Amino acid sequence: MKFRSLLYFLLLCGTFAASPARGQSPVSREQAPFRGLPVRNDLATLSIEQRVEDLLKTMTLEEKVGQLVQYSIGTPTGPGTGRGGYDEMVASGQVGSLFNLENGQAVNHYQHIAVEKSRLHIPLLVGLDVIHGYRTIFPVPLAMASTWDPPIVERAARLAAEEATAEGVRWTFSPMVDIARDARWGRMIEGAGEDPFLGSEIARAYVRGYQSKRLGAPDSLASCAKHYVGYGAAEGGRDYNTAEISEHTLREIYLPPFYAALDEDGASVMSAFHPLNGVPASANPFILKQVLRDEWQFQGIVVSDWTSVGELEAHGIANDGATAARKSFTAGVDMDMESNLYHNYLADQVKNGKVSEAQLDEGVRHVLRVKLALGLFDEPYTNETRKHVGPLDKESLDVARVAAERSLVLLKNGNGVQSLLPLKKGQTVALIGPLADDAVNMLGSWAGRGQPEDVVTLKTSLTRSLGASKVKYAQGGGIRSASDKEIAEAVAAAKRASVAILALGEDAREMTAEAGSRAHLDLPGRQEELLEKVVATGTPVVLVLFSGRPLTLPWAFEHVPAVLAAWFPGVQAGPALYRILYGEASPSGRLVVSWPRSVGQLPLYYNALSTGRPAGEVDLSHPPKNGEEKYVSRYIDERNSPQFPFGYGLSYTTFAYAAPEVSTRKISAQTLNDNLRKRNPDERQDVIVSLNVTNTGNVSADETVQLYIGLRGTSVAEPVKALKAFQRVGLAPGETKKVVFELAPEAFAIWGQDNRWAVEPSEATIWVGPNSAVQGGVRLEIGD
Ligand code: NOJ
Repeated sequence: MKFRSLLYFLLLCGTFAASPARGQSPVSREQAPFRGLPVRNDLATLSIEQRVEDLLKTMTLEEKVGQLVQYSIGTPTGPGTGRGGYDEMVASGQVGSLFNLENGQAVNHYQHIAVEKSRLHIPLLVGLDVIHGYRTIFPVPLAMASTWDPPIVERAARLAAEEATAEGVRWTFSPMVDIARDARWGRMIEGAGEDPFLGSEIARAYVRGYQSKRLGAPDSLASCAKHYVGYGAAEGGRDYNTAEISEHTLREIYLPPFYAALDEDGASVMSAFHPLNGVPASANPFILKQVLRDEWQFQGIVVSDWTSVGELEAHGIANDGATAARKSFTAGVDMDMESNLYHNYLADQVKNGKVSEAQLDEGVRHVLRVKLALGLFDEPYTNETRKHVGPLDKESLDVARVAAERSLVLLKNGNGVQSLLPLKKGQTVALIGPLADDAVNMLGSWAGRGQPEDVVTLKTSLTRSLGASKVKYAQGGGIRSASDKEIAEAVAAAKRASVAILALGEDAREMTAEAGSRAHLDLPGRQEELLEKVVATGTPVVLVLFSGRPLTLPWAFEHVPAVLAAWFPGVQAGPALYRILYGEASPSGRLVVSWPRSVGQLPLYYNALSTGRPAGEVDLSHPPKNGEEKYVSRYIDERNSPQFPFGYGLSYTTFAYAAPEVSTRKISAQTLNDNLRKRNPDERQDVIVSLNVTNTGNVSADETVQLYIGLRGTSVAEPVKALKAFQRVGLAPGETKKVVFELAPEAFAIWGQDNRWAVEPSEATIWVGPNSAVQGGVRLEIGD
């Protein structure tokens, strides 16, 4: 813990120098243990445990149940309970947690009732979805992950925590750590993409940022890893839909980011909506009891998702509310968000013996432990004189801008011979598209208390920086519709300019995030038509794509000279985009999801298993011409490969990778397994991989050096390639740096046929390169 605090401090000091200092040799130690060990969650200190037990002894059955009940105030509409009378309920100890409160005064109002009027004076736990910022809105989580920069994620989370706690919020329902392999699923925007290793590093960064060094500090925000687990595997990408995930895939792909969040002392977990392997995730003892409590020994809270306890009836595993409450609770969901069913039925279930009092006590323990760890019993109220969230301060804006800048992924820039970006400042630019001046959408899908007036749009930045006379703006219609006249005006503007920037894409609130699944991943409304007409003018076009997921735009990728994936960049959208478009910084975002060519390829992910008939060298650009081309795992009408691979992103410079060197070419599985059980990284023997990376171009830039491992000869089929380490490295023109990866044994561990984590004798291939399509690789033999 101490060591991690020190590391945290060092990371914060280096936020803007995330890359190691020039001339230094960057070293990354693969630091995400996931091998079936209990998490290092240390919520339960001795003094906390004593206070929990003392309280439990004094509580009535109803007061215990009250701690497990949570309501949203501030959202009168929606599928919740729609109930009122919270003052009375809080005063009589019937509520343990409230969320969606308006501000610090509202928090104090209820907290005073809880602490002063309820019999046992137990404070409320007050929550809110602080997802990518509270008032200062950072890029959406998918974009934050696209920075491949955990220190900046941590910094943004810290700032969000400082702002939220100033208004009395002490619990956020974040990070969302669901692995997403299907771009149809709208909630892809809320997570860190498709990879469990990157997802784990990002999850750790969020938790460290929110919770800070000490959960008990008044500006510490308890985290909640959600949605446990496998929610992103919803069939067909349709939200809330069923997921069937083998235990192997669950262990290797979907569980690791949750483990990582809790291993960083994450205080809570949210159970998901969907049925997982036939058992709704909010009543699934395998994931909630066996994995979370027995194996990982997690000590914090499991809260249901919004009405997911009540939804057991719709799932068909409970025919009444009492059964739903019992099934969720006994499976391991401690707190009922909004269903009102623990409130209505749990005490009776204990009285009639269907739920034991010991079980009830255990659930209450989890809640009280977090409240005590947060220091709420000692300091329940928000200091209303503490710096309030006012106009956004410079530091927050700097972090928001740097994060946005690093999250932008340059997908295409010219035809390989001539590039279009960066643009020249003297040129007249036509700025076109519904998202060029749309402050609301820049705030993304979960804007917390973000305000559109805080947003600097692309139009504002271009006009400020280039001068109004250089910018010809034409909206060209809306996201969903446009008139012929609007399109004609945009085309006319393009004709009068030297270059056109088209800001196109999705509506962040309506088309992404929860209940935002799409079956068609093209540009909504008439935007594709607008794009094609502007390109037809002959004016060079830069497409800036705002979306919460990759969009399938084959025409654009073929015909538009430059395409930048902007996601939804937050309050500093304009300045970040301006700096990248005009070359004040080099693009350094990298994809965290494989970008599909067509919807029919979904789900699509790089870390897939090989089939028995891999397409190998077969040319998939045309329908099969003979048996050899046909009887392989392929589509007859589409390639297998993505439009752009996981990890991909262009820069304004070029990088050369030397061949990696590996410290050993042969190691025994036994040695690695012995090391695997050691907690202390200093006692473990690492495999060291090193290589020189050179900036061979003319501008300074950051490169994200990615290390992948593939294993063959294992007891179960493993992904052909899996990310195991990465580093962002800053390189001046002509500069070479030696990049060193210290691979801990878990980089080679798998969930094998005997259902446990181990390193198995196998042949490993190690690749180091700029993205997941890297070829070549170095062999490492893992002997007996
Ligand atoms: C439902 C969403 O699924 C979840 O992510 C969110 O935290 C809760 N609502 C609370 O708002």
